[in-house]
Amino acid sequence: MAFPKQVRLVEMSPRDGLQNEPGPVIKTRIKTGLIDRLADCGLNHIESASFVSPKWVPQMGDAAEVMAGINRKPGVRYSVLTPNLKGFENALAAGVDEVAVFGAASESFSQKNINCSIAESLDRFAPVMEAANKAGIPVRGYVSTVLGCPYEGDIAPEQVAKVAKALADMGCYEISLGDTIGVGTPLKAKRMLEAVAAQVPVEKLAAHFHDTYGQALGNLYAVLEEGVAVIDASVAGLGGCPYAKGASGNVATEDVLYLLNGLGIATGVDLDKLVATGDWISRQLKRHNGSKVGQALGGNCA
Ligand code: HMG
Ligand code: MG
Repeated sequence: MAFPKQVRLVEMSPRDGLQNEPGPVIKTRIKTGLIDRLADCGLNHIESASFVSPKWVPQMGDAAEVMAGINRKPGVRYSVLTPNLKGFENALAAGVDEVAVFGAASESFSQKNINCSIAESLDRFAPVMEAANKAGIPVRGYVSTVLGCPYEGDIAPEQVAKVAKALADMGCYEISLGDTIGVGTPLKAKRMLEAVAAQVPVEKLAAHFHDTYGQALGNLYAVLEEGVAVIDASVAGLGGCPYAKGASGNVATEDVLYLLNGLGIATGVDLDKLVATGDWISRQLKRHNGSKVGQALGGNCA
């Protein structure tokens, strides 16, 4: 299959990037400053916060304040994670444009991450789907551990396909496939994608690859060849999952953009502004800039 002409980048840094940041809770104005800068780069889909239990993920405890503090740019979708109806109701009150439910292909990871089995998680998502439908809010679905689980090891592609199909059948408009711990390799990613695409049309699939083993760009190239045209990424490679020990951040958005620019695939995102944003947030957090492109183009090398 030919590469897509255009790719939608879904920016993860305010949520996946910051949710696991060690130390004190990051100030709300840094989070809103990041989101506003990302929108100014031309990113039109920004996962901005999580309406989850603040006991489980303290960094996301100010989700409502974040949503209230951003300068909404017309044409930008500000989405959030909502694991259950309580989260959805709070998100709706905060005026979000879109929500996401998140499940897993591995039973153990589901238990650790959201404290229930895969089947129970789907039951919890049903009322979220219903309420979102009533409110006219689109729902994205995540499947975690699609290329491996920190507790169970290898995950069968058919199991990923089963959970992805269940989310699509419930009404999720898009299913984002998460290599939560970044263990995948390109051929494995391709095989997984083929199995899922046999159940859910590839137009509804997104790639959400963490870069723990440095394979994410290779894996993305592999699934771009399969027709995937939506990619999740995090500026400066920020992030990690609190319930997947050792997992590093999403692939850096700057690195993905550099790859896509090289392939002549349009995104509408400005690389220079993105590099400046990655540099800015790395300095705010006093953190090493995890983007190779960010470093090469003069970003923060501290
Ligand atoms: P639980 O303890 O089973 O839930 O947690 P519960 O319904 O029994 O409630 C327990 C307490 O939490 C109660 O408070 C509830 O009110 C409260 P208490 O009475 O003890 O004071 N609560 C909430 N508070 C705020 N917002 C809510 C909410 N729900 C309940 N929405 C729950 C279940 C899902 C809530 C919990 O396990 C949780 O919050 N987990 C967070 C998981 C998370 O955010 N993980 C990281 C994001 S997923 C990810 O990173 C993967 C992804 O990037 C893809 C990939 O890379 O693979 C998406
Ligand atoms: Mg993730």
